[in-house]
Amino acid sequence: MSDPTSAPAFTPRVFSGIQPSGGLTLGNYLGAMVKFVDMQDRGDFETVYCMVDLHAITAKLIEPATLAHNTRELCAGFIAAGIDPEKSILINQSQVPEHAQLGWIFNCVARMGWMDRMTQWKDKAGKDAERASLGLYAYPALMAADILVYHATHVPVGEDQMQHLELTRDIAAKFNHDYGVDFFPLTETVVEGAATRVMSLKDGTKKMSKSDPVDASRINLTDDADTIAKKFRKAKTDPEPLPGSLDGLSARPDVRNLVNIFAALEGTTPEAVLASREGGMLGHFKVELADLAVAKLAPISTEMARLMDDPAEIDRILARGAERAREITVPILQRTYEIVGLVGHAP
Ligand code: TRP
Repeated sequence: MSDPTSAPAFTPRVFSGIQPSGGLTLGNYLGAMVKFVDMQDRGDFETVYCMVDLHAITAKLIEPATLAHNTRELCAGFIAAGIDPEKSILINQSQVPEHAQLGWIFNCVARMGWMDRMTQWKDKAGKDAERASLGLYAYPALMAADILVYHATHVPVGEDQMQHLELTRDIAAKFNHDYGVDFFPLTETVVEGAATRVMSLKDGTKKMSKSDPVDASRINLTDDADTIAKKFRKAKTDPEPLPGSLDGLSARPDVRNLVNIFAALEGTTPEAVLASREGGMLGHFKVELADLAVAKLAPISTEMARLMDDPAEIDRILARGAERAREITVPILQRTYEIVGLVGHAP
């Protein structure tokens, strides 16, 4: 057993991942990517952002060409949203094999009982768990490996991922305890606030979703300016004027959602948006919102389209990202193997 007394100091490092399951929305942008860019630009952290393609194949079968397209499109979305592949490490998971390799070790650390308690597993596998893939069950152990193969200290995610982050800490703690080391950090969750949760434009009580059959319920990052403007102008609201403060919106989720989106796009707060608009009519507010959204989002869809015109360049960016990632992941995996007692991995 290794010396348990010397606690290493961990480099402040952010890791987060998004599944390349197709169709980026305003929800992905405001809920995740804006935060990712902010953490990249603050300079307090090294930042690693990942298209988790191995996670994307845990559910239903995806057409191979579609998976490849979605992965490249997500990469284009990251870059168009402001992720700079020089400042951040931008990768697709499968191209950095240490994720899956550490994932196996963690399959042997995590307990069946822990996995059984995962609400996302229960939701996704449903009543027909017998027919779910083994990969779907092991999904959270691979996610823990994504994070810990970088010794990441901070992980920005949506609220729905908090349980997976707790499991990540449980795995790190059990590994450290079982092997008498202080090797893996207990990663902090950085949760996005309710204010950044973007709801459907047709039902303010439902999350904006790429799988909603009604396209007008969401803004796709690939929508052009006219489409973006039209969707906001036709968003569901009510005939009442805007209140001067948030209390007045507690029973008006559709309007609350538009106010949240406005604030997030503008980089202010919902309170500030309302303060200067008390008594304003929603028809007018929606036009203002449409203009703001077009100004902010049209450049993103244009840039995504430009990047998608040259998939070979995207592939070069991802290959370069993998090379940089492996400078971190290869030594951490090697040390893990050594700690476990697997032969042939001493530096
Ligand atoms: N499970 C995450 C989601 O569905 C995606 C993900 C995979 C992830 N690995 C990760 C997020 C590591 C953060 C860190 O949103």
